[in-house]
Amino acid sequence: MSMITVEHLAVSYGHPNRPTRVVDDVSFEVGANETFGLIGESGCGKSTILGALAGRNRQWTGRITIDGEVIGAKRTQEQLARQQMVFQDPFGSLHPRHTIGRILLEPLEIHGIDDRQTRVEAVLRDVGLPVNFRYRFPHQLSGGQRQRVAIARALILKPRILLLDEPTSALDVSIQAEILNLLKDLRQRENLTFILVSHDMAVIAHLCDRVAVMQNGVFVETVTKQQILEGMVTHPYTKVLMDGSRGYTPKKLPTKTRGDVRISV
Ligand SMILES: Nc1ncnc2c1ncn2[C@@H]1O[C@H](COP(=O)(O)OP(=O)(O)OP(=O)(O)O)[C@@H](O)[C@H]1O
Ligand SMILES: [Mg+2]
Repeated sequence: MSMITVEHLAVSYGHPNRPTRVVDDVSFEVGANETFGLIGESGCGKSTILGALAGRNRQWTGRITIDGEVIGAKRTQEQLARQQMVFQDPFGSLHPRHTIGRILLEPLEIHGIDDRQTRVEAVLRDVGLPVNFRYRFPHQLSGGQRQRVAIARALILKPRILLLDEPTSALDVSIQAEILNLLKDLRQRENLTFILVSHDMAVIAHLCDRVAVMQNGVFVETVTKQQILEGMVTHPYTKVLMDGSRGYTPKKLPTKTRGDVRISV
């Protein structure tokens, strides 16, 4: 079953009278419990697509269907809760003067959900953090722990979909695989569907079933994980991305986790 269907999506920024279109005629489907990847050069429109799906970018045309419902211009609280974003920089995305507990309570308050303390404790356990971390501030956590908090905040409203925007690229190389494995576990346990943006083919191959390769606001090719692993890609730009990942992945990842994440070398 398809969890997300995007048909002829175009997204613009700027004044409605003089819009700049940055995503053009993009179509894809993501099955329930699948991870769909988006890869491509900086500025090609990856975050813009996630923003449109999350309800952050409103200037879009085309058709988006999420969990069987066609998404309109205005969304209900329930529709907004259904998909949550996780950003690249866990420090920037967590309020520095709020405790972890407060950061996690906020979405529950906004959505009027009860049983808050129990939910906060449960979600901290789900992401592998001690429950007493709720009394800490973001600066008292490591980068990896902060990204676990960002994932917990995304999960606390019990979404069906996580939109992951470079979730490991700001992290120390030694903990990138740890966070990717956590995401993989959560996807299974909570039956989640992911869209994962990354510039790293190794990260994509670790988590994604299929990946769309983007250039200048359009999809140039969509390939399966198997095609990536076997090097069976056709578009020259996909080949460039794969060669780039091959070159630096083995050096970048520590020996312990290298086999886990790398693509063929
Ligand atoms: N709020 C905005 N207002 C105007 N233009 C924007 C805005 N956000 C992004 N853009 C432009 O839209 C294009 C796509 O940006 P987007 O952030 O989606 O790229 P990206 O693929 O996520 O890049 P990166 O890999 O660097 O994160 C870029 O040209 C960018 O400058
Ligand atoms: Mg981006």
